[in-house]
Amino acid sequence: TWTAANIADALIEQVREQVGEKGQAICGLSGGVDSAVAAALVQRAIGDRLTCVFVDHGLLRAGEREQVQQDFVASTGAKLITVDAVDTFLGELDGVSDPETKRKIIGREFIRSFEGAVSEVLGESAAHGEAVEFLVQGTLYPDVVESGGGTGTANIKSHHNVGGLPEDLQFSLVEPLRLLFKDEVRAVGRALGLPEEIVARQPFPGPGLAIRIVGSVNQERLTLLRQADAIAREELTAAGLDGQIWQCPVVLLADVRSVGVQGDGRTYGHPIVLRPVSSEDAMTADWTRLPYDVLERISTRITNEVPDVNRVVLDVTSKPPGTIEWE
Ligand code: XMP
Repeated sequence: TWTAANIADALIEQVREQVGEKGQAICGLSGGVDSAVAAALVQRAIGDRLTCVFVDHGLLRAGEREQVQQDFVASTGAKLITVDAVDTFLGELDGVSDPETKRKIIGREFIRSFEGAVSEVLGESAAHGEAVEFLVQGTLYPDVVESGGGTGTANIKSHHNVGGLPEDLQFSLVEPLRLLFKDEVRAVGRALGLPEEIVARQPFPGPGLAIRIVGSVNQERLTLLRQADAIAREELTAAGLDGQIWQCPVVLLADVRSVGVQGDGRTYGHPIVLRPVSSEDAMTADWTRLPYDVLERISTRITNEVPDVNRVVLDVTSKPPGTIEWE
């Protein structure tokens, strides 16, 4: 019978065959479910010959770095290198408001940071007389179809894969999830013992919170948005709504201010936008009819708890015409 555990075993065996007795592999972790499950499978197959690389670009949500560094490592035993590139990314993004320019900068810096970590690993394994030959990617079946089905190359659309691959690095790709759909990947992840926070994680864009700040990105704005996002996620989960929502971007309109009144004074603060959507594949989406009491709790908590935010608005646009993200 085909259970998730059986599928996991078969995939682990395939990875073992592909990588062989001596091969070394590298896997970039994004914090998302696909790369985590791919890495967990490869770890089971080749153990410490896999090195995972996590680039912290400073654009993640609250708790996500810890999920990778602590929970992922604890549940898989994988060897992990974290690159703390927060200052570099924020420095490069300073003053940049245009969405595509943000994406380009983040993609470029991501490759740089990843390459830096790879040369470290290469240096180490070269010293041990072993070369890193394999790059693990969490490519899913829909990605394969979308990118024309080619094998062994890294032609996933850049939109869905921060920066794509370093161009001058020559690796064979290991893509253990190539034939799976998202729900199957989640089932395999659970069978491998990955924590629910990682396995059930909703889609989150590679450029992270940078494309959820309408305006330029800085530490202060990221902190506000991170707080608002954590509140929205907490309340949606507490209300048992995660299963109905594809994802719920929380967006900071950093260049907009509106007048409010709080305590005994007038405020002039920023709006936060809630963008809950229901979707099958993110190609089209409908705005999710969230219960009013849940919306009220989120709104009250965000305006009470997040400094400089005095208004919460709900996006009731489907896709098309709106995209899911605001940028
Ligand atoms: P849109 O906004 O185009 O989003 O309706 C569709 C899906 O893609 C995600 N998204 C991205 N993912 N890099 C990514 O890795 C990006 O630059 C990017 N832009 C959008 C979005 O979260 C949604 O799931």
